[in-house]
Amino acid sequence: MNPLLMIPGPVTLHQRVLSAMAKPMINHRSKEFAEIYDECVSILKDVFRTKNDVFILSGSGTAGMEAAVSNVVDGNDVLTIVNGKFGERFKEIADLYGNTIPVEYRWGNSIELEDVEVALESGTKVVTMVHNETSTGILNPAKEVAALARKYDALFVMDGITSIGGMDVPIDKWGVDIAIAGSQKCMAAPPGLVAVSVSERAWEHIKDARAPYYLDLKEYKKYANKEVTQTPYTPAIPLFFALHEALRMLREEGIQEIINRHRRYAEAVRNAIRSMRLELFPCLNDISEYSNTVTAVNMPEGITDKQLRDGVKGKGVIIAGGQGYLAGKIFRIGNMGAISEKEILITIRVLESVLAEHGLETKGMGATAAEQILKSWSYLHP
Ligand SMILES: Cc1ncc(COP(=O)(O)O)c(C=O)c1O
Repeated sequence: MNPLLMIPGPVTLHQRVLSAMAKPMINHRSKEFAEIYDECVSILKDVFRTKNDVFILSGSGTAGMEAAVSNVVDGNDVLTIVNGKFGERFKEIADLYGNTIPVEYRWGNSIELEDVEVALESGTKVVTMVHNETSTGILNPAKEVAALARKYDALFVMDGITSIGGMDVPIDKWGVDIAIAGSQKCMAAPPGLVAVSVSERAWEHIKDARAPYYLDLKEYKKYANKEVTQTPYTPAIPLFFALHEALRMLREEGIQEIINRHRRYAEAVRNAIRSMRLELFPCLNDISEYSNTVTAVNMPEGITDKQLRDGVKGKGVIIAGGQGYLAGKIFRIGNMGAISEKEILITIRVLESVLAEHGLETKGMGATAAEQILKSWSYLHP
């Protein structure tokens, strides 16, 4: 049996998505490809809740982050908000193209809006932030930072790589100028494609900035506007077949249903963790700051990271460890992709069984707590 992939991307794929990749190749400068690309963009606009341009680039999420930054930063200042690994990556990218003004926190700490506002007073015209910081399981205040950026006439560039498609992220309502979503996360497609939305305000900056050749968004726009939609360079066609199928499935299930599903599963995981007397990382007062696509947990005493993750893997479930300085200190459970309640419960049961083998008996309280949420959720959130 295939192992159950419960990491925060790549995620388990539905057979329909896997089969789509086995189709014969097509000409990427054909009507056939254009129809696939156009339908993907149309569904993505609904997922992003935007009327802005959306482009799909062949490359992983990081390519989207670099495209976003490099097209609007050309030697100018960039306010980079960092409270985890991916915020740090945004800063590292911005360091390459401009002069960063970091607003930095210890990984897992909440972002203070006052700090962002003070930094914006310096006149910076671009702000970067990760919405769902996958390295810590924390949800950053995108709506509020977008509003602050507007107030100071700055562009807001947001990594929504692990939130868009799994949580409600209304790009236009919040005023996100450039947003990025990864194919291998909530969209339940394979890794290798990234969607980038671009606002009118962002185009004003883009037209004057020098961009790297492959990531020049002006080229993506030019080719998207041809009579038969194209991408400037040969796209990863099998991945487009798969994304197309995954997005059709997403539309069949319904965006709101998918958002609810992610929230329900994340609440079930969090409830299970607490009932097992484990601690969520970070320890937040405000529950709405927890991600609904990934849950981070402090490594309990009495078991090492290796023992825990190898033990769980030995029973057929793959979970993620911590990154950077959090390696060995936390583990993470993703709940994106083509999974059902059954997979959530299997994961919790397997976790309980490995903990028990190391003297951390939970007496099935985790699975019971997860089940409680899964059963009562529609009653709690009518
Ligand atoms: C929030 C976030 N940003 C960026 C990335 C980088 O994406 P990729 O590995 O697809 O380049 C990830 C990957 O996990 C992520 O979770």
